[in-house]
Amino acid sequence: MLAELESIKTEALAEIEGITDDTSLEAARVGYLGKKGKLTAASAGMRDVPKEQKKDVGQKLNEVRTAITGALDEKVATLTAARDAKRFDSVDPTLPSRPLPKGGLHPLTHVLDEAVGILRRMGFALAEGPEIETEWHCFDALNTPEDHPARNERDTFYFENGKLLRTHTSSVQIRTMEKLVPPVRIIAPGSAFRRDEIDATHLSAFHQLEGLYVDKGVTLADLKGALEYFFRELFGSKTEVRFRPHFFPFTEPSFEVDLKLHATGKAAKWIEIAGCGMVDPAVFTEVGGKRGDAAYDPSEISGFAFGMGIDRLAMIMYGIPDLRLLIENDVRFLEQFS
Ligand code: DAH
Repeated sequence: MLAELESIKTEALAEIEGITDDTSLEAARVGYLGKKGKLTAASAGMRDVPKEQKKDVGQKLNEVRTAITGALDEKVATLTAARDAKRFDSVDPTLPSRPLPKGGLHPLTHVLDEAVGILRRMGFALAEGPEIETEWHCFDALNTPEDHPARNERDTFYFENGKLLRTHTSSVQIRTMEKLVPPVRIIAPGSAFRRDEIDATHLSAFHQLEGLYVDKGVTLADLKGALEYFFRELFGSKTEVRFRPHFFPFTEPSFEVDLKLHATGKAAKWIEIAGCGMVDPAVFTEVGGKRGDAAYDPSEISGFAFGMGIDRLAMIMYGIPDLRLLIENDVRFLEQFS
């Protein structure tokens, strides 16, 4: 029995050694270790081995099985390695890979990140509201009467249910005051929509950045200081800022803010960049009515608000002559900013 096992081992190892493909290797595994394999058949002979030899024969049987299994495993590894090596024959894996095209941020994202960064350092927290708004949040609560041109069907995208695509981010002022009590200091960047003809300075879907500060004793000096500081941080400390009296239904007094633009080779000129003002007490009263409390009692608190076009900011920051470039997704344009 011992001699028989030894000869199975010698035969098996020699056979496995000579194998060069998976199919023969599997055949050898079945031929020795399978249900009807040679080693399996030999181990059935254990029954007839005299008791005193059982231990030796058993040990031998294990030794042979381990040797064959080991040889089979080793062969699998050798065959796999040979196959991999062949695959790399025509490839040099040490060569650098082909460069992948790199993405970059859109110029509007750059400007917005900077603007939001400055305002957050000034203590403004981010707020948001829906792009599909109610007329009340977009107009009524902002003291904008029924006959105001902004509410006209020809200027605004209405839905059949009476809601609309917000014409400005000022609606977030109302959304915020419904939820929070003063002191409130928020900014709300987001999209706004108007039925404007698209041209070099107008888009029908554009971006605004709204700001609101409500507290005890907020004054026009706070508004002016905050916006001047903001624009100088964004465009440089020499930036000239001008406040021009204007009218907005939701602020009193109201102003438009101009920046002086020094384009190379051209005469410096003022360009309009934002609207702002002291929150009209009528807005506080309307919000108070909705809330049903005295948190926004206009005899106790005051506030300022501002709103600016982010697309316009990008035009100034990068000297972009035509707003339409921002939405055309032309890689030749966009890659200049990444
Ligand atoms: N909502 C105005 C617009 O879209 C901009 C604006 C003006 C916002 C004055 C304000 C503000 O918060 O106080 O033209």
